[in-house]
Amino acid sequence: MSLAKCFNVDDFRKLAKKRLPSPIFNYIDGGADDEFTLKRNTSAFDDCVLVPSVLKDVSNVDTTTTVLGQKISMPLFLSPAAMHRLYHHDGERATSRAAEKFGTFFSMSTIATTSIEEIGNYTSGPKIFQLYIHKDKGLTDLLVERCQRAGFNAMCLTVDTIVAGNRERDYRTGFTTPPKLTLASLLSFAFHPQWSLNYFLHEKFKLPNLPQSGKGGESVHSSVIDYINTQYDPAMDWKEAEYVIKKWKGPFALKGIASVEDAKKAVDIGATAIMISNHGGRQLDTSISPFDQLARIVDAVGDKIEVILDGGVRRGTHVLKALALGAKACSFGKGYLYALGAGGQPAVEAMLNIMQSEIKRGMTLMGCRNVKELTRDKLIFKK
Ligand code: LAC
Repeated sequence: MSLAKCFNVDDFRKLAKKRLPSPIFNYIDGGADDEFTLKRNTSAFDDCVLVPSVLKDVSNVDTTTTVLGQKISMPLFLSPAAMHRLYHHDGERATSRAAEKFGTFFSMSTIATTSIEEIGNYTSGPKIFQLYIHKDKGLTDLLVERCQRAGFNAMCLTVDTIVAGNRERDYRTGFTTPPKLTLASLLSFAFHPQWSLNYFLHEKFKLPNLPQSGKGGESVHSSVIDYINTQYDPAMDWKEAEYVIKKWKGPFALKGIASVEDAKKAVDIGATAIMISNHGGRQLDTSISPFDQLARIVDAVGDKIEVILDGGVRRGTHVLKALALGAKACSFGKGYLYALGAGGQPAVEAMLNIMQSEIKRGMTLMGCRNVKELTRDKLIFKK
């Protein structure tokens, strides 16, 4: 298996599985508990089929959409995900540049392995910063101000991760952050010498946006789960979300909305967008998949706030289905992390190229000249 043989997201997943030590691969690939939600996030798209229109003159198909104040080249962007340096030594530099080349959003996690300032200077593409609310309140203001100075275009606040989900794969593989040679992980590192050499020979693993990063910034806690459980503030509430929206002043998304009631509250506190998300199935297992909840949320608030579907997207047709139900755009995490692990920036670019082609070809075959023409009558739900 090589990059040239990757024709879809699943192929990149297979290559990543081959190239990455198992603790790292399973950290991307896994979900919480029985992984019901993880699987449903993708299988939910199979509950409906597309109904194309023909003879529509689709010689010019426009895949652009406008979301969070930016016109992006396709209705799909990179969700925030932690610690890109784990998957490839170029880390967030690789993913941000790839997104820039494709004219779509790169999202940077609070727990990124590159600093806000470095990414601000490194890429001129559209950028979202993803915020976590810590018990240390000074940190929220500090991160918001750093992002304002670094030229980030939008911010999203993750609201579904007040404690970490139960990721049993990580216990089994001995996943730690930063990666350590433990009894459980030793063999896996030994069998992936290329990753291991690159990891240990390139710049040190660090989490430069967090003050708790310890001496040299290389380590926060024994694991990211431990970090979440001790540093994030479970007292976070709507007032706090509203405070950050006001402080940021620009386009703002709440990420991790699942209920219609919460979607309405997001409108009330002045959010620009909501990302319907369950954190890639990594948090509350058996929680509803974004696609299963999309129509209800669009019907309630679609005319007042931008609705983004985050989770489960592996195919261009998934994006078409979400847009037909009323999403403004989709975002995905695992899809591009597999590519990053499979081969760094060139692989992320190859994967985005495939997704862009799938979206464009799909719209062409659907008889849709632009994203507005993807409407509900283009879908039929199977009984
Ligand atoms: C995770 C957090 C760190 O899902 O976003 O692992």
